[in-house]
Amino acid sequence: MAQILFTYVAVLLALSKPSVAFQQQVLSSFIYTQHGDRTPLYSREAHVLTPYGARQMYNAGSRFRSRYLTTTFNSAGGTTAIRDISHYQLNPDDVSILANNDQFNVASAQAFMQGLYPPLADAANLNYTQMAGISDLANGTNIVAPLNGYQYPPVRTASSYDLNSIWIDGAADCPAWTQRLVEYYNTSDFEFLYTSTLAFYQGLGDDFLSNNFAPNDLGYFDSYYIWDYLQYEYLHNSTLRNTISSLNMTRAKIFAADWVYAMFANRTDPVKSISGRSLATQILSTFNNAIQMEGQTNKLNLWFGDFSPMVSFAALAGLTSNQNAIFYNIPPMGSSFVIELFSMVADDSSTSGFPNTSDMFVRFFFQNGTDEYSDLVNYPLFGRSPSSEYVSYSEFVSGLSQFSLSGVREWCETCGSYSIFCPAYTGVDDSPISNSSHRRGLSPTVAGVIGALVALAVVAFVFVLLMLLAGFRVHRKEGKKRSSIAGFKGSQKLASDQDLTLPKGGAGATVLSTEPETSKGHERVGSWELREQAKKKEAGQMGAVTSPPPRRSSYEEDEVHVDPYAPAVKPHDHV
Ligand SMILES: *[C@@H]1O[C@H](CO)[C@@H](O)[C@H](O)[C@H]1NC(C)=O
Ligand SMILES: *[C@@H]1O[C@H](CO)[C@@H](O)[C@H](O)[C@H]1NC(C)=O
Ligand SMILES: *[C@@H]1O[C@H](CO)[C@@H](O)[C@H](O)[C@H]1NC(C)=O
Ligand SMILES: *[C@@H]1O[C@H](CO)[C@@H](O)[C@H](O)[C@H]1NC(C)=O
Ligand SMILES: *[C@@H]1O[C@H](CO)[C@@H](O)[C@H](O)[C@H]1NC(C)=O
Ligand SMILES: *[C@@H]1O[C@H](CO)[C@@H](O)[C@H](O)[C@H]1NC(C)=O
Ligand SMILES: *[C@@H]1O[C@H](CO)[C@@H](O)[C@H](O)[C@H]1NC(C)=O
Ligand SMILES: *[C@@H]1O[C@H](CO)[C@@H](O)[C@H](O)[C@H]1NC(C)=O
Ligand SMILES: *[C@@H]1O[C@H](CO)[C@@H](O)[C@H](O)[C@H]1NC(C)=O
Repeated sequence: MAQILFTYVAVLLALSKPSVAFQQQVLSSFIYTQHGDRTPLYSREAHVLTPYGARQMYNAGSRFRSRYLTTTFNSAGGTTAIRDISHYQLNPDDVSILANNDQFNVASAQAFMQGLYPPLADAANLNYTQMAGISDLANGTNIVAPLNGYQYPPVRTASSYDLNSIWIDGAADCPAWTQRLVEYYNTSDFEFLYTSTLAFYQGLGDDFLSNNFAPNDLGYFDSYYIWDYLQYEYLHNSTLRNTISSLNMTRAKIFAADWVYAMFANRTDPVKSISGRSLATQILSTFNNAIQMEGQTNKLNLWFGDFSPMVSFAALAGLTSNQNAIFYNIPPMGSSFVIELFSMVADDSSTSGFPNTSDMFVRFFFQNGTDEYSDLVNYPLFGRSPSSEYVSYSEFVSGLSQFSLSGVREWCETCGSYSIFCPAYTGVDDSPISNSSHRRGLSPTVAGVIGALVALAVVAFVFVLLMLLAGFRVHRKEGKKRSSIAGFKGSQKLASDQDLTLPKGGAGATVLSTEPETSKGHERVGSWELREQAKKKEAGQMGAVTSPPPRRSSYEEDEVHVDPYAPAVKPHDHV
């Protein structure tokens, strides 16, 4: 029924171009953009956005500026400009920006925003440096911000302690996902790919990778990291660019895409596709917010993160097909998924109010990178025919609801996560609303962690009381770095380890202040470590895993950490 109506509207629209009976208007747009060019993940150096990557993101932002901010009405009966959005001066209420908290994602967001809302004193903007009540001083001078009136965007970031991290990278701290990876390394599919590509990877290793990759890390299980590295070198290293054959580059790319596809794009596996499910959940809630607020907020929703939610979402939303083989690939850096909520209202109804949801439609675009040949291309959602450019809002909601999550709790349960925020959502507290049947999914580990957390909370409470009453201070252990903290875990930090690892019955607690470290990472798990884990499991000798030292440390910087293995707090200073 809706489809028929919709076709009818489309036909009307096509027939009535000159008189413009229907007018199209973008109400809200959700744009998930992959970070720009960054240094390779297979490295213990800090992973940073390169200047080239910053340009990519700037270009991406400029393109969306011309689509959503500076475009004017066109003869086709509408505009792609977003309704009521500020065109020159960034209005924080108009945008909602979330970046995964790696440097390259946060910097990507900033560079993108520079393109989207350029500095106010740029020539074309000169008339907009005056912000009533904000930029002028009492003596009549109008002040322009540094860097030619640079506009400071409100970028929110999500660390793994923040529950927003599950929406922007659902698979990152998901133990169940890691378990699926270990299982994948024990399948015949994997075995076949591994053996048939081994010679290729060892050859690549001899020719190009020997300086960086340990010999044991050369294989299909590391195909993504190898591709990530080659891609970077191909762009930055003329020796490699001139010697590697394009055939071998293509091979490396295809094998990497295969690994990525197997681990993220499995529609039937609720865990492997978790990052796409997380993303879908937030797209729905964003559009719902925009509608509830009648377009006052969430006009442009800009997310910056890894490729995995894109790959996963494409599979779930039926974008991947033989006609659209592009979605079998790893999306290029700087590429965007764009989901637009727009309305189609009759011109003569002259209701300038916010449209009804029955007049709303949703369409999907893929911006395949930022170079001059890249383009914003419309693809049909939910495996529809290519002529189906959009779906009604209600169809969109019911389509995404097939796989979206009901909330944080579903994520925590699907992942079997013991992230710090999960206990609050999995109903393990003793509050009256908790339902004992909620406890089914709780593993003994989780229960142990919660017990330890409660114990810690008690310790912390007593400690705070002491501080208040007696004026104790925490001894600040200068220079104590994570390397020494990591000692208690042994040097083998497996990717399956979670950020918070607590012993059962851990005794005291010490509050440490860690020095900021430059090398930090929120990168994807190290697949070679997991392969080792799978092997050792088979051989029945877990516990003696020999893998390279962790590239990912277990603690966030800049935060006060609780180390349960350390001696109990010693009051150091009396005031
Ligand atoms: C600024 O505004 C004035 C008058 O409002 C106009 O004449 C001038 O062309 C504008 N300049 C720019 C750069 O838009
Ligand atoms: C107004 O005050 C600002 C800041 O104190 C100063 O920089 C500026 O020169 C003043 N302008 C005039 C016209 O006095
Ligand atoms: C591709 O790499 C393999 C080794 O991995 C090498 O033997 C072969 O010559 C390369 N092919 C081309 C076309 O360069
Ligand atoms: C460039 O690539 C070549 C061949 O892989 C390698 O030997 C060399 O160290 C690389 N140069 C830099 C600066 O990384
Ligand atoms: C999806 O994952 C399941 C196991 O999690 C596996 O059995 C199945 O073969 C996978 N499907 C594809 C198409 O890879
Ligand atoms: C929304 O629908 C109601 C009745 O269904 C109608 O009165 C109103 O004008 C519509 N609003 C717009 C903006 O189309
Ligand atoms: C992007 O898509 C356009 C149009 O489909 C195509 O011409 C171009 O080659 C693609 N670019 C990349 C980098 O994939
Ligand atoms: C607990 O959950 C079960 C099913 O999930 C439900 O039937 C029952 O009414 C719930 N009990 C309470 C007290 O909410
Ligand atoms: C690997 O698979 C075999 C059978 O397919 C199974 O018996 C074994 O337990 C699996 N090993 C791991 C580590 O999952």
